[in-house]
Amino acid sequence: MRKFYVTTPIYYVNDVPHIGHAYTTVAADVMARYKRLCGYKTFFLTGTDEHGQKVEKAAKGQGMEPRELADRVVVRFKELWEKLNISYDHFVRTTDDYHEKAVQELFKLIQEKGDIYLGEYEGWYCTPCETFWSEGQQLEGNLCPDCGRPTERVKEPSYFFRLSKYQDALLKFYEEHPDFVLPESRMNEIVSFVKMGLKDLSISRTTFKWGIPVPGDPEHVIYVWFDALFNYVSAAGYGWNQERFETFWPADLHIIGKDILRFHAIYWPAFLMSAGLPLPKRVFAHGWWTVEGQKMSKSLRNVVDPHRLMEEYGTDALRYFLLREVPFGLDGDFSHRAMAHRINADLANDLGNLLYRSLTMVLKYFKGQVPQPCAGGGELEELARAVVKDLEDLMDQQAFNRALERTWDLVKGTNKYIDSSAPWALAKEKRKEELATVIYNILEGCRIIALLISPFMPEKAQEMWNQLGVEGDIEKASIEEAAWGGLKPDSQVKKGKPLFPRLDEKAIVEKIERELATSQEPEEEEITIDEFAKMKLVVAQVLRAEKVPKSKKLIKLLVDTGADRRTVVAGIGEHYQPQDLVGKKVVIVTNLKPVKLMGVESRGMILAAAWEDGMKVLEVPSDTPTGAEVR
Ligand code: MSP
Repeated sequence: MRKFYVTTPIYYVNDVPHIGHAYTTVAADVMARYKRLCGYKTFFLTGTDEHGQKVEKAAKGQGMEPRELADRVVVRFKELWEKLNISYDHFVRTTDDYHEKAVQELFKLIQEKGDIYLGEYEGWYCTPCETFWSEGQQLEGNLCPDCGRPTERVKEPSYFFRLSKYQDALLKFYEEHPDFVLPESRMNEIVSFVKMGLKDLSISRTTFKWGIPVPGDPEHVIYVWFDALFNYVSAAGYGWNQERFETFWPADLHIIGKDILRFHAIYWPAFLMSAGLPLPKRVFAHGWWTVEGQKMSKSLRNVVDPHRLMEEYGTDALRYFLLREVPFGLDGDFSHRAMAHRINADLANDLGNLLYRSLTMVLKYFKGQVPQPCAGGGELEELARAVVKDLEDLMDQQAFNRALERTWDLVKGTNKYIDSSAPWALAKEKRKEELATVIYNILEGCRIIALLISPFMPEKAQEMWNQLGVEGDIEKASIEEAAWGGLKPDSQVKKGKPLFPRLDEKAIVEKIERELATSQEPEEEEITIDEFAKMKLVVAQVLRAEKVPKSKKLIKLLVDTGADRRTVVAGIGEHYQPQDLVGKKVVIVTNLKPVKLMGVESRGMILAAAWEDGMKVLEVPSDTPTGAEVR
């Protein structure tokens, strides 16, 4: 039996699932369902990436242990996958025992092979991306070239993987497997990157603890990407379910976002080469969704919640929209306007109407009983055959939007067939035999369409089958059933509610806009201007600054407020060196009750802007007089 192994990335648990995660997972689900339909023994893997500094930091920020945060977020992912009808076969968590064991074993194996050595890493680290950068790779101001956020200086002992040794082998592999990476343009990027030269890769950290310990050297935890990538083999059964592992490995398709291509197309095959394991057949890097033209971000409050979309439009409409709207591989922009429009045009008008009018006619002319045709399906039959055939190729290239477009040729073709064969005229002229053939063909077109859309819209496809009177579970059907003539004459149709009710596009957009506007109203308690005026804010100049002994965070500042000189203690030690603060003009709250912090009395507070992993003291232009009031 032919097999197919498809994966999604494993999702970080520092964030709750959003439309970007739903996108990758729906695409993988559609592939898995299509391959099952084609008779492949399929293994579909998804899961969560739970180790690393990013997750550790997020947990700390929420006053939790990382494991506790992971346990909570995993539930959120699983709930979403259930609602979205994701038919995964296995959910891996990198904190699962079998995974941790496999990663340690593979680490040892690669080490014994001589591809891991102990050295010292000196460079920069971007925690949000969990990526090491050298001086030259960074953007000016020590910013991560991928996400633009500040990196941190790292200097620590580290184990290295001899990535440089695999440069030639990788280039040879790409040459021999030109569609290892799709889309093609991404393959070219990878080849140029590798040609520029590969440096050995740091694969352990010592400055935090949340990770899998390096075997034999527990001061080090294994770099989160080394840990995470091996989920694809550990979850398939490496080291604990050999039979499954041998059945499914190598993976046929890793679906990922373009931002994590380098890890999958360079590091991953190199690790596998070193471990002596076969390489995956394909990595497909899809594009990114923006929202109404902007990058999705918590601070812009524009993160699209898939639950809300399903509530408004339905699960299958969301699945359809995600894969139809944007060619897989390109970036796309999400808007409610586009979504409502797409649903109306393709699903309510083209598909929903087709089924509705077909069933109305069979009820009217044949009391709902599928008639016996007196001839074949002619051009419609040929079109159906051609569409089924073309889908094979399109799905093998993950060209989901084109596969749907091609399926819609059959939807539109069947609609046209109704118009051109005009069953109402045949009925009027009492041409019973021709009428029977035409109605049969229309219903047969609908049945085949249901089968073809079933990987994309499993619930609606089933509903179509039920309404057409086809028995059985469409999920268990086989592509062979797409052969013309499968619909049984004499079976009884069961017309139900319209598949996709027409949406009032304008009303939806207005409703969502209203929702967004109200959700952006501040939740905090409001204060009056008099309350604000109670606070005395002045411009002060920093005269001296020093670390508070034994504290990582606290800096003791001597400031001139214009009226006096006083000591203020600020929790900014993780973001500033004391000497960098001297001379700055800053804003101080001068009428706060004094407090003692680590034995030092603080008389006032310095204002600073703070975000998840950064902080900047508010500075005032240097020509502002000390003591000036801030209002
Ligand atoms: N944990 C790593 C993957 C390890 S795989 C061995 C990771 N996780 S993630 O949660 O940050 O991202 C998972 C996937 O979501 C990535 O493929 C990423 O491209 C995708 N998306 C996140 N935001 C997205 C959009 N706005 N649009 C489309 N996909 C996006 O990376």
